[in-house]
Order: sequence, then C-alpha cells, then structure tokens
Amino acid sequence: MEQRQPMLEVTQLTTALGSRGPEILSGVDLTLRSGEVLGVVGESGSGKSMLALSIMGLLPHPIAVRAGRVRLEGRDLLPLPAREMRALRGKEIAMIFQEPMTSLNPVMRVGQQLGEVLRWKLNLRGNAARAEGIALLRRVEMPDPQRQIDAYPHELSGGMRQRVMIAMALAGRPRLLVADEPTTALDVTIQAQILDLVRKIQRDDGMSVLLITHDLGVIAEMCDRVAVMYAGRVVEFGSVLDIFDRPAHPYTRGLLASRPSITAGNQWLSTIEGTVPALGQMGEGCSFAPRCQLARAACREVPPLREVGPAHQAACVAPFELAPSETTVNAMALGQGAPA
Ligand SMILES: Nc1ncnc2c1ncn2[C@@H]1O[C@H](COP(=O)(O)OP(=O)(O)OP(=O)(O)O)[C@@H](O)[C@H]1O
Ligand code: SF4
Ligand SMILES: [Mg+2]
Repeated sequence: MEQRQPMLEVTQLTTALGSRGPEILSGVDLTLRSGEVLGVVGESGSGKSMLALSIMGLLPHPIAVRAGRVRLEGRDLLPLPAREMRALRGKEIAMIFQEPMTSLNPVMRVGQQLGEVLRWKLNLRGNAARAEGIALLRRVEMPDPQRQIDAYPHELSGGMRQRVMIAMALAGRPRLLVADEPTTALDVTIQAQILDLVRKIQRDDGMSVLLITHDLGVIAEMCDRVAVMYAGRVVEFGSVLDIFDRPAHPYTRGLLASRPSITAGNQWLSTIEGTVPALGQMGEGCSFAPRCQLARAACREVPPLREVGPAHQAACVAPFELAPSETTVNAMALGQGAPA
C-alpha cells in the first residue's frame, strides 16, 4: 500500500544564535504522520520551543535556522518568502502558546480579535464574522459564548483565555496544530479539560498535532509517538509504548524515574542529577555524558540517532543498558514491580 506523505518532516534541522554563535538545535530529525499527535518532551532549555518556532518561521532575531529542512506535506517551508509563510501560518499550520495573555490583545474584545483572524483567513466580516466567532467559541466549549464574545481578555479565567486562543488557532481550519505547553499555566482540572478539548477536535477533524510539554503524564494521555529532546537534539523517538515500556536512552529513563509514581505513594522517585548544559557550554561528544552513569570512552563522539527496535530510535552507545542505581527505581517507575 502506498504510504501517505507525512504531515511534517524535519530533517537535520540546525538552529543557532546568529551566523557564528552556538547551536540551539543540532541536526533534529522527526516525522509527524497525518492525523497523529506527536509529543515533544524534555527538560527546560532542551530546545522544544525553538523547534516549534523554527517550524513556524517565527524565530526571534538573531536566532536563525542554519541548516536542514522542514517540509509540510512535502512542501519545503524554509525557502518560502516571509509573505508566503505568513499566509501559511494560521491557515495550514497554527500555533498555541503557554500563556494566552501574551498572545491576546488586552484592549480588544474577544469578538474583535476573532473577527480580525476571520477577516484575514476566511474573508468574513460583520454579522457573518460574529456568527462564526460564536460558533468557534461554542466549538471550544466556551461557556455562554454569546456573552463572552464581547468580553475583554482580563475578564476571562486562564482556561477561558486558552479556549479563545484555541478558537483563534482553529479559525483558519489548520491541518497542523503546534501546541507549546498549552496547559502549563493552568491548574490541573482546567488543564485536563483543555487537553480533552484538543484531543476531541484533533479526532473530529483528523488534525495533526505537535504537542510540546515537559509533562510525561500529558504525553501518555495524548500522544501516539514521542520525541525526547535533550540539549537541542532528539535523543529518543518512538511510540508511546516504546518510550514508557522500553525506554532505550538513559535520559528518557531518568525522566520516567522523575515522575510521581503510584507504586511509590505519589513520591518523586528520583531526579536526574545536574542540569541541561547552557548554550555554548556543550562539551564534545554526547551532551548527556556529564549526567550519565553509563558514560564511557565511546561517548566522546556524538552518538547518532539509530534504530534500536521497530520504528524506535535512540542516540546512545549503550541503549537499554541500566546503570546499577537504576535497576530498582526503574522497575518500580515502569510498573514492573520491585524484585520479590
Ligand atoms: N531569545 C533567546 N536568545 C538566546 N537564547 C535563547 C533564547 N530563547 C531561548 N534560548 C536558549 O535556547 C535553548 C533552548 O531554549 P527553549 O526555549 O527552546 O527550551 P524549552 O525546551 O522550550 O524550555 P522550556 O521547557 O523552559 O520552555 C536554551 O539554551 C535557551 O537558553
Ligand atoms: S552515549 Fe554514553 S553518555 Fe550518552 S547517554 Fe549513552 S551511555 Fe550516556
Ligand atoms: Mg519552551
């Protein structure tokens, strides 16, 4: 059977600070299939937002893509002129951010902001735009949309503001939604409601979603496949099952072990010692080496992302090998029970 064109294909993407500055992303490869939810997970500073902004063509100066390719259904995005990229944003790809207040205009009513988007993307004006705005608010399950369309952002709760942002993102009926920590600023109940909403819309429309989060619980709940990022690289890529049941990379196992675990009475089992290296502070070789208990001479070369199982890749010279201190903790974290 003929394979469908991937929705998004990122190949050897390298993004850096200026033309001579340090790399922020180094040779990132990932593929998002049509209609799937691909999670991107990693600690703060691992390059998740920079990946999203590189794809969207929204990198803040002087950060720029230095090499690689971004293809949307086979179409190369990086060479597109700014005007074409602007037209594509919002129509074919839309993005939602962590803090809706930074993306909403505080002095404009919800209806005016939705109206601007609808005029630009669907050429709707006046009553038609208002009716479509209310329909969009209803779609994102905004309570009392007839009233809230006339509200100012500060009159809405955080969850409602995020619903407005999602409504604005959906206005152009995009096929790919890039969501950068869409629920991090919200409390747990609202977070679950917003994630349910994104999943419902994704399923109803067959939309593809690139979901960025540092929360493995969100990944488990929402995603089909996962890219684990560390220091600007993808260090593991696989299905949710691969990542949770057969994590190959020591960093992925560290993230899993840092999760609250039911078997351990909701205690945090451990955290990975150390932090993501700062920009320009990356040593030679595997960037996880300073924090890795399995580091060895072979790690002085950057390990390539390679197959470690069917459609499962990891960038490590010792995939699946457990460090002595990991064996018990991981068995518990992965729900395999402690040794009898
Ligand atoms: N405007 C900027 N100028 C220079 N460096 C930046 C800028 N924004 C981010 N960086 C650097 O780029 C690297 C990747 O940052 P990025 O924001 O993509 O991380 P992240 O994974 O999204 O983290 P978080 O979970 O905190 O959102 C970090 O080293 C960060 O310090
Ligand atoms: S390549 Fe070496 S240092 Fe890097 S994660 Fe694997 S074992 Fe650890
Ligand atoms: Mg970020």
